[in-house]
Amino acid sequence: GYIGIDLGTSGVKLIFMKKVGVAERQVTKEYPIHHPQAGWSEQDPEDWWQATAEGLRELTEGIEPADIKAIGVSGQMHGLVVVDKKGDVLTPAILWNDQRTDEECEYLNEVIGRDLLTKYTGNMALTGFTAPKILWLKKHKPEVAERAQFFMLPKDYIGYKLTGACFTDVSDASGTLYFNVKERTWSKEMLDVLGISESMLPTVHESYEIAGTVNEQAAVETGLPTGVKVAAGAGDNAAGAVGSAIIDEGTTLVSLGTSGVVFSPQEHYAVDKGNRLHSFCDASGKWHIMGVMLSAAASLKWWVEDVQHGNFDALLAEAEGAPAGSKGLYFLPYLSGERTPHNDPNARGTFAGLSPLHTRADMTRAVLEGVIFALFESVDILKQLHIPFSQVKVIGGGTKSPLWMQILADLFNVRVITAHDPGGPAIGAAILAAVGDGAYQSVQEACGTMDSTDVIYEPKESNHAIYSRMYPLFQKLYVSLKDVFN
Ligand code: XUL
Repeated sequence: GYIGIDLGTSGVKLIFMKKVGVAERQVTKEYPIHHPQAGWSEQDPEDWWQATAEGLRELTEGIEPADIKAIGVSGQMHGLVVVDKKGDVLTPAILWNDQRTDEECEYLNEVIGRDLLTKYTGNMALTGFTAPKILWLKKHKPEVAERAQFFMLPKDYIGYKLTGACFTDVSDASGTLYFNVKERTWSKEMLDVLGISESMLPTVHESYEIAGTVNEQAAVETGLPTGVKVAAGAGDNAAGAVGSAIIDEGTTLVSLGTSGVVFSPQEHYAVDKGNRLHSFCDASGKWHIMGVMLSAAASLKWWVEDVQHGNFDALLAEAEGAPAGSKGLYFLPYLSGERTPHNDPNARGTFAGLSPLHTRADMTRAVLEGVIFALFESVDILKQLHIPFSQVKVIGGGTKSPLWMQILADLFNVRVITAHDPGGPAIGAAILAAVGDGAYQSVQEACGTMDSTDVIYEPKESNHAIYSRMYPLFQKLYVSLKDVFN
């Protein structure tokens, strides 16, 4: 069998897979996220490793060592992990949803210029990407930057702890803004812009290539046998696409996790000229175009846990009773700023349109709808780019709510498919390991063997009519409130 690891934002998920697409065993371990200042978002890579090592022990208990053929790692993208010569972490990891790099992005987009950035990398600078984080570190923590031996991405730190080798894959590297997405290599021009050398960066592999083997130290800490192969793996969205067989043009993946993602595979390298969507490498040797919102399930978690001190099942059951459109109540889900389409770290959340008629059920429903309205803005751009859009597969924690899935189908006006056994990125990572191990010729071949055990939600016309009336007004809200947020 194959092990897939997904190093998420709220925790790490580990699965053991024998039959492609099926998680025979599954373990999740959580770890904290720290917000030392407003807009900052950090985690301790040592927490990731402890949780992963402990999770691996639990996952593999009772499995014959010879049964573990290879491991694949996927994870939250864009985070900056800084490691010294001895392999020690020098400073907390700055995460994908951290917003501190506004000034650095302005420098990159205005002084270096968006056209050159797009030419070098396929993308413009956004606060979450890794390049502006390196500039921030050099300016605000020069003593740390000076001692840095390696700049890694979150999942690459796990690969490093497992094997002692510093490697990454093309899909995750795409989110750094110092990677040439078209050529699938580090961008020499961007390394010059950042003033760093290639020797500080991981070796780049295709996602399905084997990049190392489990070393003795890791074997002691995880209980894994030494010598198990480790594949390069993928960023969580690219791995999630493999895990749900979204690898061909014309198919669309939506991920409703902490972040919300609309992901569309591309046969050839393509860029949205307005840089509203990201252009990244995918995990099967091709490319994808993707829109990302920062607070998707994070908005629901905030509403249910932090505001209501409630529980998900109870509040979602209550929201079933609220009508589509939440009696004209709108929710903007920009709690931590927004990436697609606003690219505005200062955007904030709001409820708009409250009246004495509104109940908590309506407010919960408005949160669910607001997240989907915000995701639809990425779909809107896909449509403007004439990218085919006919049905979506959904992964992530949000799939646990049938109500949320129905809202997605109604609002997008497409058929929505979720898997019975949503393994998500961890399954994708295990599939990449299986391909690397030679069990399949290609990611395409492996995905072709997957059973479809799916739940289907069809759009309801009457609800769609309500949402199409509301969507332009939802869009107007951000535009009208922008000055309040800034
Ligand atoms: C993708 C992104 C998020 C993280 C979440 O660009 O920032 O989806 O990968 O883990």
